Amino acid sequence: MSKPSSAGFQPASEVEQQAGSLRYRLILEASDVHKTYLSGERRLEVLHGVSISVHEGESVSIRGESGSGKSTLLHLLAGLDAPDTGTVKWEGSLDTGAGRRARFLGMVFQSFYLIPELDALGNVLMAARVAGKVGATEKQRAKDLLARVGLAEREHHLPSQLSGGERQRVAVARALMNSPRLILADEPTGNLDEKTGDSIIDLLLGLCAEQQIALVLVTHNAAHATRAGRSVFMRDGLLQ
Ligand SMILES: Nc1ncnc2c1ncn2[C@@H]1O[C@H](COP(=O)(O)OP(=O)(O)O)[C@@H](O)[C@H]1O
Ligand SMILES: [Mg+2]
Repeated sequence: MSKPSSAGFQPASEVEQQAGSLRYRLILEASDVHKTYLSGERRLEVLHGVSISVHEGESVSIRGESGSGKSTLLHLLAGLDAPDTGTVKWEGSLDTGAGRRARFLGMVFQSFYLIPELDALGNVLMAARVAGKVGATEKQRAKDLLARVGLAEREHHLPSQLSGGERQRVAVARALMNSPRLILADEPTGNLDEKTGDSIIDLLLGLCAEQQIALVLVTHNAAHATRAGRSVFMRDGLLQ
């Protein structure tokens, strides 16, 4: 009953994959994505035709030199920026707009990006607010998630009253708040010491596997990268 490990580069038309009697939904599919930045007279060609497919419950790590275009790719996969050419599809659909993003996608960043004025609970609930609903059910879910990431006693701490690792745990809970199908994590351990970073990766990989969430993990840490179901490298504007 193991998942196909090389579920990599699927034809654009294939939305689901047959694996024995199980079907794994194709959650994310980028096809031949190109991206060039223009600054003044200069053209900086960052992505030269990147393709990647990630199925339900699958984790993929991306490594690559600083400046190779990993964050650029994640922005495109998140629908926060548009490719020059090529397509990004979420569950077979080209709609990667804000309305859909709030429920489809969770993101975790190197710098946590918590709102400093809100406590841990308020930060997790902000995801529900963006998706349009904060009621008793959402409040209970946010509390449950904070407990799940080990912060039951820290609900009312402000980010400034939390350690780096605790802040990133809040960010992980926030990413999970709306039961996303996909999590994009951009160097989530980049600002953490080794042991704390390891525990964040345990948490991310564990929760994504448990909830069958597709995960794309950008990391410089080889040990973290190889824990993902599949590892790829960004090199010369391509994923290899
Ligand atoms: N908004 C932007 N405008 C112009 N150049 C950019 C912009 N964002 C990133 N770049 C450039 O694109 C390249 C790739 O950046 P980035 O995707 O952040 O790399 P990585 O995340 O792999 O370190 C870098 O050379 C960077 O300077
Ligand atoms: Mg980056």
